[in-house]
Amino acid sequence: MSFATSLRAIILGAPGAGKGTVLSKLSRQYQNQLTTVSSGDLLREQIKHNPSSEIASVVASGRLVPNNLMIDMIFNRFDQLDLFSQDKSWLLDGFPRNVNQAIDLDSRLLHMNNSLNLVIELDVPYEVILNRIKNRYIHQPSGRIYSLDYNPPKVPGKDDVTGEPLTKRPDDNVEVFAQRLELYTELVEPLKDYYADRDLLHTISGDSSDIIYPQLLKLVEKKFNTPLEQ
Ligand code: AP5
Ligand code: MG
Repeated sequence: MSFATSLRAIILGAPGAGKGTVLSKLSRQYQNQLTTVSSGDLLREQIKHNPSSEIASVVASGRLVPNNLMIDMIFNRFDQLDLFSQDKSWLLDGFPRNVNQAIDLDSRLLHMNNSLNLVIELDVPYEVILNRIKNRYIHQPSGRIYSLDYNPPKVPGKDDVTGEPLTKRPDDNVEVFAQRLELYTELVEPLKDYYADRDLLHTISGDSSDIIYPQLLKLVEKKFNTPLEQ
């Protein structure tokens, strides 16, 4: 499948809502045409290289990394991948997290003449999310996500592609997870208002990615696959 118009989107959703899960499916569907950038994956990459950094302790506690650091990290990755170009399609996961980050993203995109054209919110009940988190395992080097019940690895405890061991995210314990969820709830409403005012916000609700993913695919196909009528 291919895009008739470049997709420039962000995805909002509580921790554990399935942002990473549905985006990896969407990237496979659109193969080389869609780049996803995840703020959490970028941070985990940095933490791997420098485990005793300030960033590592902020993430481990479930608080937010300072805006200036996060903005630089995202924009540097965009520059590296040349995602500010007109013809590139991309989806941002985990950024922006607050209205100040959203304003900075907008002004950078405006500068490049490339404004955001879709904001997706995944709306999943909190009881469902809390159940999921204890079953989540990741392959840290690639960011691949597994769930013991939803998408278990073929060999228990091992990554399907490399055979390397799977680990728990250090911030997926009960206390830190509760803190991340609380912070998300507090910050998402102003962010949703910011995008709803510009008619960009689309909310997809459901208890499972098997319900959410087909709706996401339909939305993206409808908005970006059909050549625009002149
Ligand atoms: P980040 O990595 O962005 O974490 P998050 O927002 O807390 O979100 P998650 O990755 O936990 O959730 P997800 O929705 O991707 O769910 P996933 O698909 O993996 O951020 C981590 C930290 O970095 C933050 O706390 C903060 O400190 C810092 N940070 C990041 N961005 C920042 C920013 N912009 N500014 C400042 N600081 C920032 O998981 C879903 C799980 O459920 C999987 O295990 C999946 O397999 C499983 N599952 C089980 N059953 C199902 C089912 N039926 N459907 C879907 N999934 C299922
Ligand atoms: Mg994620």
